Amino acid sequence: MTHILIYSYAHPLRRALLTALAGAVAACSPAADAPEVPAVDGEWAYTVRCSYCHDVPNGMGAELDAVTLASYTTVGRLDRYLRVAMPHEAPGSLEDAEYDAILQYMVESRGLMPEGGSTWPLPDSTRLQTP
Ligand code: HEC
Repeated sequence: MTHILIYSYAHPLRRALLTALAGAVAACSPAADAPEVPAVDGEWAYTVRCSYCHDVPNGMGAELDAVTLASYTTVGRLDRYLRVAMPHEAPGSLEDAEYDAILQYMVESRGLMPEGGSTWPLPDSTRLQTP
């Protein structure tokens, strides 16, 4: 009798616990159809990670206009510089996807995409030419 009582109490409890656990596990694992790396909004990432030094009066970093970026000559060289040197106070600290998205945002927003309908990602050897 005692056994049956305990069991009948324990059973719904156990089920609730298991259900809660399963919910927690499901919440942690990515949805089956989601991409492995969540897409990063390059403009947002640039604004949060870079603009407080580069886009403010008397900021620590210079303005990053088309001419400055094009001085790196190719997409690959600019990419490597960013990954090795920026953000200045914590070089290399961003996720891969953030560096990618920021690079894409800068190249597109400064009019540095090559003519002729090229799409992102551009090959490293793509020349950065001011419009
Ligand atoms: C804490 C301030 C700070 C932050 C944040 C920062 N930078 Fe910089 N950035 C600098 C400084 C200072 C320099 C000049 C470094 C040098 O000459 O060694 C620089 C240089 C650069 C240059 C080279 C400019 C040139 O004239 O050649 C680029 C490109 C650049 N940063 C991009 C970025 C990007 C993209 C981010 C965001 C991921 C970023 N920076 C975040 C301070 C910052």
